[in-house]
Amino acid sequence: KPVLLLNGPNLNLLGQRDPFYYGDHSLDDIVLNVREFFESHSIELESYQSNHEGDLIDQLHRAHESYSGVLFNPGAYTHTSVALRDAVEAIAPPVIEVHISNVHNREKFREKSFIAPVSAGQIVGFGVESYLVAAFAMTKILKKER
Ligand code: DQA
Repeated sequence: KPVLLLNGPNLNLLGQRDPFYYGDHSLDDIVLNVREFFESHSIELESYQSNHEGDLIDQLHRAHESYSGVLFNPGAYTHTSVALRDAVEAIAPPVIEVHISNVHNREKFREKSFIAPVSAGQIVGFGVESYLVAAFAMTKILKKER
């Protein structure tokens, strides 16, 4: 089964959105990079972005049947959404939480993650490379090397 790269609100604006925190790569660039990495491990990648909480929940539900794992950047919903947390908790495939910026050295409200306690792990603060670090970790989980 493929891996799902799931991105939440405002991540469609990558490239134009505050490059200090988020760099100047577009989401398409990132997806391409991550897909290349997974292909080198013979794993297929699908990508989905939505600005709507319910859409993200629907994708997580779909992941239960259709994906072997999920790389998930929930954007600002990280800090607010019990519903996304419950969805992550309810599904079997491992979910790795990803953040581009270091959410621990920004505003206080970004330190809290509703998703982290139900995730396989959390990767934060490596810029767009956070996604590649998470992809590496996912290959290890899928090959049961950790
Ligand atoms: C983010 C961090 C969140 O606090 C913020 O709301 C985002 C992006 C990140 O990738 O650094 O939208 O998830």
